[in-house]
Amino acid sequence: MDILNAFNEFETSALQSISAAKDADALERVRVEFMGQKNGKVRDLQKLVGTATPEQKPAVGKRFNEVRMSVSAALDARVEQLKTQTTKAASEFDVTLPGERPRIGHLHPIMQVMSEFRELMGRFGFTVVDGPEIEDEHHNFEALNIPEDHPARDPLDNFYIACAATAAGGPVLLRSQTSTVQIRTMENTKPPVRIVSLGRVYRPDTIDATHSCMFHQMEGLMVDRHVTMAQLKTVLSLFARSFLGPDVEIRFRPSFFPFTEPSVEVDMKWGDSWMEIGGAGMVDPNVFAAVGYDPEEFTGFAFGLGIERFCMKHYGVDDIRRFYENDMRFLSQF
Ligand code: DAH
Repeated sequence: MDILNAFNEFETSALQSISAAKDADALERVRVEFMGQKNGKVRDLQKLVGTATPEQKPAVGKRFNEVRMSVSAALDARVEQLKTQTTKAASEFDVTLPGERPRIGHLHPIMQVMSEFRELMGRFGFTVVDGPEIEDEHHNFEALNIPEDHPARDPLDNFYIACAATAAGGPVLLRSQTSTVQIRTMENTKPPVRIVSLGRVYRPDTIDATHSCMFHQMEGLMVDRHVTMAQLKTVLSLFARSFLGPDVEIRFRPSFFPFTEPSVEVDMKWGDSWMEIGGAGMVDPNVFAAVGYDPEEFTGFAFGLGIERFCMKHYGVDDIRRFYENDMRFLSQF
């Protein structure tokens, strides 16, 4: 009988779709498609019941009810099944498994070296002081015995800040050296002085593997009665050895800086090559005069070291630019 065939077909395809439904939403669509009150396929079956002859009616009616019941039951069963499946998936989540550790940051390698320097110099009795990165010409040049016509003052070799000025209207610039802090310290302190100052300096150099227009220096200054060049060398040797190891050697080469007399270039031997690490010397009497110290009574030594140099040597980095690129693959090695 055609009517019963249609019932069977309805039942088979409904049951198939029900078991194929992957989640509650899909199952709901199947329910609407087959059993929906308005447009579900079950409505067509109902119409077929109406077309049955009086003899067919009892069997057709019975079968219609059976099919409806079996599809409804299958829908209910599948709802339950999908529910337990989700809870099972949830219970398969093992709360005792180790989680993903949040990545904790650390100090930049340059900052790490700087704090180690502060700590080492602190042990030698040097106090850490800070100075501003935006400076006036008095502290960056004049008081350091760098006169107006000195090539180091060339605007092309400095970062002058066009839109700013000192209270008196004078030019300001990004400091080109930490020697500025020597002046600031001596202006405010009576001797003896024993300080270091670490920080950024700025120069419009062409950037390459060994030059950056911003880098870091450690400035040192010791002023007292009878301070000697031998003490300077001792402090620098002790410092370099404490940082890199007992076989590090320090060597002085004659040089010139306006703020020291005599002046030297400082080289360090670590491994088998000599490397320049900075400048140093005995504080020039003109510098003492600029800050009101009596050059007859006091002597002093000063030094300025390039921090990146040490950092590159220490960590085996051959390109200074790596430090400033913020590349996590590089930085996370330290
Ligand atoms: N300020 C110098 C520079 O940036 C380095 C320097 C040399 C600092 C001699 C000093 C010094 O204190 O005595 O090149």
